[in-house]
Amino acid sequence: MQRHEVGHSFLARLGKTKLRPGGATATNWLLKRSKIQKNTKILEVACNMGTTMIYLAKKYGCDVVGLDQSPTALEKAKQNISKNNLSQKLKTIQGNALKLPFEDNTFDIVINEAMLTMLNESAKLKAIKEYYRVLKPNGVLLTHDVCLFLDDVSKKEKLIDELSRTINTHVGPMNAADWKKLFETSGFKNSQKVGKMTLMNPIGMIHDEGLVRTLKIIRNGLKSENRTMFFKMFTFFKNNQQNLGYIANYSVKKGASTNEKISRN
Ligand SMILES: C[S@@+](CC[C@H](N)C(=O)[O-])C[C@H]1O[C@@H](n2cnc3c(N)ncnc32)[C@H](O)[C@@H]1O
Repeated sequence: MQRHEVGHSFLARLGKTKLRPGGATATNWLLKRSKIQKNTKILEVACNMGTTMIYLAKKYGCDVVGLDQSPTALEKAKQNISKNNLSQKLKTIQGNALKLPFEDNTFDIVINEAMLTMLNESAKLKAIKEYYRVLKPNGVLLTHDVCLFLDDVSKKEKLIDELSRTINTHVGPMNAADWKKLFETSGFKNSQKVGKMTLMNPIGMIHDEGLVRTLKIIRNGLKSENRTMFFKMFTFFKNNQQNLGYIANYSVKKGASTNEKISRN
């Protein structure tokens, strides 16, 4: 085990396939609203091991491009895509969400789950500006992140600090109003759904991963080399379930973004 393994890499190593706060419930809420067809052009940013891309290709028959900055995650994505015989439909590319290697107005949908939370405020804005740029007019941005159910500034800072230490990476979750502001000031019309975090909750895990895989994840988590991190994460999320949840943001690209308007004036 790496000494400071980041939370999502740790969970992936234990066998978890959905590495996002609200699991399939949040993803399905976003997808149901999106009217995806066979010819819908989709980009998944932060595709990790390809779980969502594979789901999309199987359910809707569409092609998906998946981008992630981690070569290790992409190697696993390629293996999973090939195992599912979907190499013709699903392509992966290593890259950075803050500088996407695609032309303007290319995609109908950009999906980005459990990544913006990991960025600071200016990087969040930069990524969202990139999503806006590569989306076609009226294209849709589907994101899914950690939501804070706290408004008190010092309590918020303490919780963010504790979460960052628990998952070994700095994170920047926000409350629902701040998430909305982020998308709306970037030129999107936004609607949201919030709910309970399912990432490490046993019922949520069974719902997302099935019983057999959940048992495997728990068995791996209890191995001596994983136990400390497993309990640290499990206890943190259990103790903070009132203050932390998921937020799904469905955001439609409208007109020119505020940033573009400002820079042209
Ligand atoms: C918590 S995982 C989420 C994976 C997947 N979207 C899911 O929901 O299961 C976060 C992913 O974001 C990727 N990532 C983080 N920052 C990134 C960036 N700036 N550009 C591209 N990928 C990034 C990581 O490599 C990792 O695979």
